[in-house]
Amino acid sequence: MKPIRRPAWALPEHRVTAEASWRSRRRFLRESGSVLGMPLLFGLFNSDPPPPEPPILPERYPAPRNPTFTVARPTTPKELFLSYNNFYEFGTSKAIRAAAQALRLRPWWVRIDGMVERELELDAEELIRRMPLEERIYRFRCVEAWAAVVPWTGFPLRELVRLAAPRAGARYLRVESFLNPEVAPGQKQPWYPWPYVEGLTLAEATHELAFVATGAYGAPLERQNGAPLRLVLPWKYGFKSAKSIVRFTFTDTRPRTFWSQVVPQEYGFWANVNPAVPHPRWSQRTERLLGSDERVPTQLFNGYAAWVAELYRGLEQEPLFM
Ligand code: MTE
Repeated sequence: MKPIRRPAWALPEHRVTAEASWRSRRRFLRESGSVLGMPLLFGLFNSDPPPPEPPILPERYPAPRNPTFTVARPTTPKELFLSYNNFYEFGTSKAIRAAAQALRLRPWWVRIDGMVERELELDAEELIRRMPLEERIYRFRCVEAWAAVVPWTGFPLRELVRLAAPRAGARYLRVESFLNPEVAPGQKQPWYPWPYVEGLTLAEATHELAFVATGAYGAPLERQNGAPLRLVLPWKYGFKSAKSIVRFTFTDTRPRTFWSQVVPQEYGFWANVNPAVPHPRWSQRTERLLGSDERVPTQLFNGYAAWVAELYRGLEQEPLFM
């Protein structure tokens, strides 16, 4: 995703003070401020990073594979999937893996609210514990025209909808990513409408393909891929798959999504994959497979038309493919 809107006063990223520098500067000021001398020494010896966190429920991986969801292409090499990412909270390049390790996953509060019978707030570990985990191999297609094949582990989004019990009148599910500029330097860029928000109709959210990933490649999800919880909607462009989710809200109003606020003429609400509808700045006819770099034809609904086309009957006037 390369949004073109960047105000003239915005510093280029290489001019922004590295997080490590301002962090250590703030820590220095804080720790040398109270009692002179001693705290200075203390500050010097107390600059260890926080201890590593244990992964969430590692004993649940690998989960049983659901044979209904397989892909004829080879799986994308794991290392590539783990190191070639879009996660604007941690930077606009693909190399955000190291920066994303600053995200703390414990505790990770998830709110389920809005038009529901039971509002809930629970820790991600508790939510995952309650859910039936399975492995599904899905095609993944970024709007930038690269594509992957990923063995996700997780649970059907409809299980979460069932847990929430939406009230009559709820028509959309709004999904919100975490907000913490202290760990996510991208969130200090005020021209983005943080936090990252995505949305689906309830018909989409309860579709069999809609998935909440908690893992990939037979292991708990890594931070750069959206730990502890992210959406996976294989018939839509990848930007619909919000990462590191903290809130699911049921509503009667179509949510204003992150990218539709940043570049409305390029990224809409629906974002279904279609080779015949070009992005305003590039063609969507073909896609580049991560790993081999082979270019192959893009498929309508990313190859899932037989599953999802009926969701869009009667909505032909909507901009379904941007
Ligand atoms: N979610 C959040 N919170 N922030 C993001 O920048 N990028 C999206 C999506 N989810 C993004 C996000 C885009 S554009 C893509 S293609 C996928 O995450 C990339 O997922 P991956 O890095 O796990 O392959």
